[in-house]
Formats: sequence, structure tokens, C-alpha cells
Amino acid sequence: MKARKIVPGNLFFAAGMVAMLGASIQPAQAAESEQALVEQAQALAGQFQGSLKAELVSAMSTGGPINAIDVCKLKVPEIEQQLSTDHWTLARTALKVRNPANAPSDWERSQMNAMNNALAAGKAPADISVAEIRDVDGISTFFYMQPIMTGQLCLGCHGSELSADVQKALAKNYPQDQARGFSEGDLRGAFTFRKVLVE
Ligand code: HEC
Repeated sequence: MKARKIVPGNLFFAAGMVAMLGASIQPAQAAESEQALVEQAQALAGQFQGSLKAELVSAMSTGGPINAIDVCKLKVPEIEQQLSTDHWTLARTALKVRNPANAPSDWERSQMNAMNNALAAGKAPADISVAEIRDVDGISTFFYMQPIMTGQLCLGCHGSELSADVQKALAKNYPQDQARGFSEGDLRGAFTFRKVLVE
């Protein structure tokens, strides 16, 4: 089960899926459920991103970036957990992480390298999400990754010119921080979701 697919927007790879799912599921059903999974993942990513942004903007406006670092630390796992229902597990990862708990698996790392290559080749972020079904310990599992791009709002904490206060707060909370030095438009990381597929 090695196939890796770049999902162009909402389009899906019916033919590949039929091959991947094998004989246990009817082809028509398989293609439909895969399409549905991608749509669910995209909806979850939208909710995840919306909640993160809302927390970030409100924390920044009430207490500046130092406050927002604390809020990120506490709220992000909360949001991840809230959205991880119905056999889904939601997380964020990156090639250069701030929190070592977000470090990528080998598969996630190779997907993000492929995303960087695709961006360098001129692809739009919306066209480089990845979806795949593969067995984990004999259990069919859907994997989905969607790029997270660096925007203006991110630079105060992930850019190359961090204020002394931010640097201090990061040193205290994230002594192994690697997630800085980014510019607007860079791939900052990715949403990485999985769903255990049950009968
Ligand atoms: C106020 C500071 C702050 C701002 C602004 C900020 N972040 Fe972060 N970011 C953090 C902190 C703190 C973490 C570590 C969270 C944790 O413990 O999981 C983090 C983690 C992440 C991660 C998870 C991978 C990792 O490095 O651990 C991604 C992806 C990410 N940020 C993207 C963004 C993007 C995109 C923006 C802009 C929309 C942004 N961040 C804005 C502070 C910030």
C-alpha cells in the first residue's frame, strides 16, 4: 500500500483507490467513501484552522504574543482533542517543529518534502494535499495531510526577527524550538489527520 496521491482540490483518484482497497470493498463504494473522507478531512481542517486563528487573534489582542504563546500551548491540544471524534485523530506537524511532540513520522516528513517540491514547481497550496489509505497493524486507516502556509500573522512567533520577549517566552516553554526563520508564503507545516476505518 505505497501509493501516494496528491489531491488536486476536490478531485479524487477513483482508479487508484480501487486498486488500493483490493477486493473487500466494491469499487464504486470505495471511490465514494474515499471522496467522502477527503471532504470530511477538508471540513475538519477548516474548523481546526478557524479555531486556532480565533484563539490566536483574541490572545494577541488581549495580551500580545507572550500571552498568545501560553494560550497556544494550552489551547492547541484542547482543540485537537475536541475535533478528534468519530475515529479521527487530528494533529499538526512540520519539518521544523516548535513542540517536539509534533515531530513528523518518516511518511509525514516525505510528504512535506514533496509539498515543498510541488510549491517550488509552482503548484498552489490548495492543490498539494495528500490522501492515502493503508493498513496499520492490520486495520485499514485513512491518512490526510494538508499544507499550512506561513502568513503575516505568524511572523511574530515563527519569523526571523522575534522580539526579545517572544524569544524569552519561547526559550522557557520550547527550549528545542526549531520553528523560526520562516517568511510569508513558506510552507510552515501541515495538518495531519487519520481516521481508523471501521465496518
Ligand atoms: C503567539 C505566537 C505564535 C503565533 C503568532 C503563531 N504561532 Fe504557531 N506555534 C506557536 C507555539 C507556541 C507553538 C507550539 C504549540 C504546541 O505546543 O503544540 C506553535 C506551533 C505551530 C505549529 C505546529 C508544529 C510545531 O512547530 O510544533 C504550526 C504548524 C504552526 N505553529 C503554524 C503557525 C501558523 C501558520 C501561524 C500563523 C497563522 C502561527 N503558527 C502563528 C506560537 C505561535
